[in-house]
Amino acid sequence: MVIEKICCLGAGYVGGPTCSVIAWKCPDIKVTVCDKSVERINQWNSEKLPIYEPGLDDVVQKCRGRNLFFSTDIAKSIQEADLIFISVNTPTKTIGNGKGRAADLKYIEGAARMIADLATSNKIVVEKSTVPVKAAEIIMKILRANTKPGVEYQILSNPEFLAEGTAIDDLVEAERVLIGGEDTPEGHKAIQELCWVYEHWIPAKNILTTNTWSSELSKLAANAFLAQRISSINSLSAVCEATGADVSEVARAVGRDSRIGPKFLEASIGFGGSCFQKDILNLIYLSECLNLPEVAAYWQQVVNLNDYQKNRFTRKVIESLFNTVSDKKIAILGFSFKKNTGDTRESPAICVSKTLLDEGAKLHIYDPKVETDQIYYELTHPQVTNEPEIVRKNIEIHRSAYSAVTGAHAIVLCTEWDEFKELDFKKIYTDRQYKGAGQSDLTLTCIYCEKLASFLTDNVLQLILYV
Ligand code: NAI
Repeated sequence: MVIEKICCLGAGYVGGPTCSVIAWKCPDIKVTVCDKSVERINQWNSEKLPIYEPGLDDVVQKCRGRNLFFSTDIAKSIQEADLIFISVNTPTKTIGNGKGRAADLKYIEGAARMIADLATSNKIVVEKSTVPVKAAEIIMKILRANTKPGVEYQILSNPEFLAEGTAIDDLVEAERVLIGGEDTPEGHKAIQELCWVYEHWIPAKNILTTNTWSSELSKLAANAFLAQRISSINSLSAVCEATGADVSEVARAVGRDSRIGPKFLEASIGFGGSCFQKDILNLIYLSECLNLPEVAAYWQQVVNLNDYQKNRFTRKVIESLFNTVSDKKIAILGFSFKKNTGDTRESPAICVSKTLLDEGAKLHIYDPKVETDQIYYELTHPQVTNEPEIVRKNIEIHRSAYSAVTGAHAIVLCTEWDEFKELDFKKIYTDRQYKGAGQSDLTLTCIYCEKLASFLTDNVLQLILYV
């Protein structure tokens, strides 16, 4: 079978960018990205895409209406497709067995049942979502138990390694594409067919093929390793502060060892995003189910350290404001979980803001790409507060960093957006003095975060000394 038509279930942060790049690089393939959410599909078909990702607008502009389509007509897209990506969300379970740790596979199951109901010809079904090991078995069971005469399925695992903020570059210049499948002649054939799609632009040497379970586990393992590096350097940031060592110098020295390497060694307020915590918790749960408690405890510590770091940062902010932030105006710069994305899922800024609000602070928040409604949504969520109306009164969203910091008692940099590097902190400080705010109540909180500490120009250092 030559792949002529691809359908993707799930038009989110993964499905949207991934399929846009496939459509761009494979003009001979018709790619239809589907979602249950009419609103999301309407946004994909509009001028303002539902997600911000550098370079994404251009790719969508080039292909949309040519060989890239966004649709809610899931039945038609499934029926005509040769290959179907399942790219739906796999959040952590919030109820039932494994609550708080296991991945909730209800959307995966829902997608598999849709395919089983609707397919009328052979399909290659590709698991693109991040799933626990052996999830493909669930998909396989659902599909094969409901097979119609003449319809055969092959299930592949093809986890996505893109990082938000650099998704398009990551997809175009992928260091590796991983494809796992069944060790049977039909399985090998399906793997080759998906390889053919990627070989339109990825060198064959960068396409790794494995068995299904290795592929599923590799994605969890990769995210666990990345998160572990962040927790490792963050743990050392606490040691640095207690000893006078400088975490950025330590990271530079450690990273020079080619066995360790310099990347992903920046101390920060902690990792966020929809994946790292969810995927490690998933690995922990899997280890417990496999009766490997020591393995589970090892990875649990990576999550614990991350919580510790977020809390430590916020405590430091409060301590530096003489142990009270009640009625103080605090500017929060950056709300997304990292720069170059508008995604706020699990953003450390939420944790920091929550604690400051609980302590009575007035927050003035600015982020270049996060929508106002999204900030309100996160901070008035029942997991964050029982008193959404009070929270609403105590936050103000600004359209520029300068507006947010005007008259602030403290500036808390939560996201390393490049535009914050350009801020004239000295001017911010002196403007505040002229307004009679006194010298001692502007604190620049630039603690631990090497990404942010790199903003510390001489001016800013001086600023801290004034405090
Ligand atoms: P998302 O929440 O942005 O998008 C998922 C979409 O699937 C939603 O729009 C939802 O409405 C839709 N959906 C759910 N069930 C459906 C169904 N039966 N039919 C059609 N649409 C359906 O999630 P995101 O971030 O794109 O993640 C998807 C998967 O990819 C997750 O497993 C995640 O762990 C993984 N992943 C995410 C990365 C990221 O950076 N966001 C990176 C690599 C993997």
